[in-house]
Amino acid sequence: MDKVKIALAKGRTAEDAIKLLAMAGVEFADYSKNSRKLIFKDTSNEIEMILVKSGDVPIYVEKGAADIGVVGKDVLLEEDADVFEVLNLKFGICRMCVCGRKDFEWSTHRKLIVASKYPKIAKNYFDLKGIHCEIIKLNGSVELAPIIGLADVIVDIVESGKTLKENHLEVLQEITQISTRLIVNKVSLKTKSTIIKELIRKLDDVTQKGELQ
Ligand code: PRP
Repeated sequence: MDKVKIALAKGRTAEDAIKLLAMAGVEFADYSKNSRKLIFKDTSNEIEMILVKSGDVPIYVEKGAADIGVVGKDVLLEEDADVFEVLNLKFGICRMCVCGRKDFEWSTHRKLIVASKYPKIAKNYFDLKGIHCEIIKLNGSVELAPIIGLADVIVDIVESGKTLKENHLEVLQEITQISTRLIVNKVSLKTKSTIIKELIRKLDDVTQKGELQ
């Protein structure tokens, strides 16, 4: 039988996904957090797990290099891949927000300068609002931008709010709620239907129980 390949976003998403998979009866005995290995087999030898950068999960699944993926809704919104989003795994819960200095005032007289790791989400949001903006793509430490005057506001993930607080910024507007999703390659869902649907069912069961929260 063909193995099912599952791509996990490296880091905390993978950690939580591996716990959720174990609850669903899929165990990766040779996985360890500190290992640099990127491919693991489950104990039943039916599922292979690969660890990739979060932003790459959608393309691995779209192209069929992985049959299934586990990745944040933030990445799915930004990458816009042609995949089925089949399950909300209900962990990695956070918010996509417009944030800035407490004293920041919106002005319609000039374009808004927005820094973000999520240029597409940011652009779509301000376009829908009819706000003329320029997006500056950054790769991290986005909170610096409004502090040092690189941008008026940022569009970023807010989880605990600690990063904002420690940098004297606040949420100005919430764009959307984010959580981790299970995505499936469109062809794999037909060709490996039995094993994939069984896995979705098991993951749905453990997700409903909410034991990971
Ligand atoms: C993310 C995000 C915020 C922070 C929010 O950054 O971009 O900076 O986490 O979390 P909080 O509300 O719990 O403080 P990440 O940790 O991925 O680091 P980065 O700035 O290098 O992207």
